[in-house]
Order: sequence, then structure tokens, then C-alpha cells
Amino acid sequence: MASQIRTAVDFYERHPISAQIILTKLEAARGTLDGLRPDELFPHDQDHYGGTLANDALAKCAHIGSGTKVVDLCAGLGGPARYLAHCYGAFVTGVELTPARVAGASDLTRRVGLNKQVQVIEGNVMALPLPDESQDAVVSQEALFHVPDLARALREAHRVLRPGGRIAFTDWIAHKPLSAADEKLLWDGMAAATLINIDRHEELLRGAGFEIESIEDETDRWGIILAERLRMYQKLRGEAEQASAPAGHDDFYESYVLFVSLVQQKIMGGARFAAVKPA
Ligand SMILES: C[S@@+](CC[C@H](N)C(=O)[O-])C[C@H]1O[C@@H](n2cnc3c(N)ncnc32)[C@H](O)[C@@H]1O
Repeated sequence: MASQIRTAVDFYERHPISAQIILTKLEAARGTLDGLRPDELFPHDQDHYGGTLANDALAKCAHIGSGTKVVDLCAGLGGPARYLAHCYGAFVTGVELTPARVAGASDLTRRVGLNKQVQVIEGNVMALPLPDESQDAVVSQEALFHVPDLARALREAHRVLRPGGRIAFTDWIAHKPLSAADEKLLWDGMAAATLINIDRHEELLRGAGFEIESIEDETDRWGIILAERLRMYQKLRGEAEQASAPAGHDDFYESYVLFVSLVQQKIMGGARFAAVKPA
């Protein structure tokens, strides 16, 4: 378990999108970072498929509105957390494992003046550093597949929610069993620790004490986005090769190509889950 956690951190410590890269791009485009607004970050700080619309979908499922107390599991650079605070008036605590992501999230949040509403704290979603029944909603975008013990993380989500509170999240899905070789490649290249099907997600949610409200299969939608991203990534690698510059991490690239092909074959995919802690 400790080595699995280490790999997720290693992967995100060297992730190609960092707060610094986002800020450098914005400074080049607007000449200064003074007066930066939250909505100027949104095209850059959402590390999941479907951008801000995917956050709207979670907000709807989790009944998020003005003043809602939300925990964002695996908050990354805090993109979804800032969006829910800025657009819905929520108070969001992001829990994030990788120290560099926590520091980046705090920097971005402070620069856009949302630090009274959004806090990203270092922690592991398998042991949430939050009191029992302290939250109205739990969300997570496309990250729980990194967590080695999802049952434990869902029990923790249930513990911190008030009765009647909701959880809404997206996650990667293995619709069919993967070969050991494919699992290894996805683990080595993308720190994918838990690849399970929709039924197993349902079982784990129920086992944690939730009642399921909705499950939406996002595989077709993700397939289109992934194919576009792969084309863009291949173009960038081609350009880097022509300029004799480093083309990026080969282990990540190989895993990504495999992931896209598995989604296209509908062996893998994505889904959105919503559930309630009974009152
Ligand atoms: C794909 S990123 C998603 C970030 C964010 N949800 C978003 O949509 O922008 C996954 C994040 O999960 C974090 N993570 C992985 N395992 C974790 C764990 N056990 N506890 C907390 N965060 C974790 C990683 O460090 C990474 O920042």
C-alpha cells in the first residue's frame, strides 16, 4: 500500500501541468498576473475530462449551492474546488496527497482571491483529516482509480458527511477484466491502482452505507475527448522529435496509447456516480 501511494505522488510530482506552467502561460498572454480572476484559470486548471461542465454535473448530483460545505477528494491543483466556490458559492476543502499539488493549489487560489472559500489540504482520502458529519457534500473528479483501497475512501466519505449529504464523483471503469500486462502498463505509466467495473463501484458505495441515486456511463463521451487529446499529444511529440527536444515520458505515453485504445474498444471507460447518506 505504501509503495502504491508513493507511485501516485511520483506521477503527480512530475506531471506536465503545474501551477507554475499555468501562471507562465497566463502571464505571457495577459502581460501580468495582477488582478487574475478565477474564470481565467478554468481553461487550464481542470485535470479531468469534460472541463467545467463536468463540475456542473457533479454540483447538480450533489445538490451544491450557496454555502454548501464540500470536500473534494484528490483535489489536484484545486480547479474543481475553485469552480464550485466561484460559480456556486460553496465552501470547499480539497484533500490532496501530492505536496507539490497542494502548494500549487494554494498559490493559484490565493492569486484569484478565493482563499476564504477554498482550502486544499495535504492528506490521504483513505484517512480524511476532517471531523465526523462535518460536510454537506463530497465530490471527486476522475481520481479515485489512484486510490488502492476505494472501500476505505468511500467509508471515510460517508463518515464526514452529515445525514442526507451526497457524494458525486467520476472515475475510470474497467468494463471487462484487464490482462495482467495491461494492468501493469496502466500502473507503471499512470499510477492506476484500482480498476473495477460499475457494479463493483455500486457494491462499494452500498457497503460504505450509501444509497445510489444515479449512475451515468461516460465511456462514449470520454472516448471522443481521449482521441482528440491523443492526436494533440502525438503532434507535440512529433514536433519535439523534429526539434531534437525531449518528447516526454515514454512510460506515460505508452500507457496513454493503451488507455485510449481500451476505451475505444469499451474495455475501459468512465462513469459518474451519485449517492446519498440516508438521513
Ligand atoms: C487526475 S488528478 C485530478 C485532480 C482534480 N480532481 C481535477 O479534476 O483537476 C488526480 C489527483 O489525485 C491525487 N491523489 C492520488 N491518490 C490520492 C490519495 N490517496 N489521496 C488524496 N489525493 C490523491 C493525485 O496527487 C492527483 O493530484
